[in-house]
Amino acid sequence: MSKRRTISGRTVVITGAASGIGRALAQRLSAHSCPVAIADVDELGLKETEASLAGPVLTRVLDVRDAADQRAFADEVADWAPQPLGAVFNNAGVAVASNVLDAVPEDDQWLWDINFHGVVNGTRAFLPILAKQDEGVIVNTSSVFGLVGMPSQSAYCSAKFAVRGFTDALRQELRGTGVSAVNVHPGGINTNIVRNARFRKDPEGRGRSQSQMADEFAAITLTQPVKAAEIIHRGVEAGKARILVGPDAYVFDALARIAPTHYYDVIGFAQSRLRGRARAQAAR
Ligand SMILES: NC(=O)c1ccc[n+]([C@@H]2O[C@H](COP(=O)([O-])OP(=O)(O)OC[C@H]3O[C@@H](n4cnc5c(N)ncnc54)[C@H](O)[C@@H]3O)[C@@H](O)[C@H]2O)c1
Repeated sequence: MSKRRTISGRTVVITGAASGIGRALAQRLSAHSCPVAIADVDELGLKETEASLAGPVLTRVLDVRDAADQRAFADEVADWAPQPLGAVFNNAGVAVASNVLDAVPEDDQWLWDINFHGVVNGTRAFLPILAKQDEGVIVNTSSVFGLVGMPSQSAYCSAKFAVRGFTDALRQELRGTGVSAVNVHPGGINTNIVRNARFRKDPEGRGRSQSQMADEFAAITLTQPVKAAEIIHRGVEAGKARILVGPDAYVFDALARIAPTHYYDVIGFAQSRLRGRARAQAAR
């Protein structure tokens, strides 16, 4: 049974807060009286997020791959926090699009280090604070690509499946305590993720540039970051153990259960229809 939690008014930590879902979460939670500690590698974007917040904010340039710096950040947050720590959002993430056959190992490693080890580093750094309080939530961002495997997304899917496994295991360890662990599975959210991706060539051989792929992604996403932040905030407070974000996330989840080896027959068809529609709209 899910137990309601309150994070409004508590201190929260958000990585990847210079853009997209992280920025929208910072803005929403700040508006709900949370002092926010925001971190990102993108200093400029982080300052823009900071400038958009009215409440207390601690801004920290941080590379989530650096475990020691994550621990130093956790110490700084503990010293600064005007309220008990309510939630830690390990949200920072990047993308790579490549077939396994053409994979550039450094690109995949870069992604695994950020999308998986960054989440582990953040969890390890902040969990002792939550354990001491015997209260609070670790909120780790997986993806719908942590529910299904997708072509050209082997690095991303493997990292997001790993986040899901790590977080599910942690949740079981925390049974009987006041601390919990939540997986977030967003569907397509209209953010900078494709624009910020490492790109070598169109993995589908259609000759698209990164900017064209980003435009196509934007055209087929169903959810805006502000809506994603609302769903995540409400889901955490409702006591959910996993939060599906956007209508497409529910479709991915259902397909993974109903057709565990054939889901891509449906997803691939739906994707090509959506892309065709987006191309037709762009040509008008
Ligand atoms: N946009 C989507 O469709 C979607 C879908 C599922 C999951 N997600 C996940 O949501 C999370 C947020 O992504 P987004 O869509 O808002 O993308 P985004 O690119 O808009 O934001 C990601 C942020 O993470 C930061 N970041 C990257 N590497 C970092 C590092 N090493 N240390 C600290 N910060 C770093 C970036 O600078 C950026 O500000 C990611 O984990 C992503 O994988 C996104």
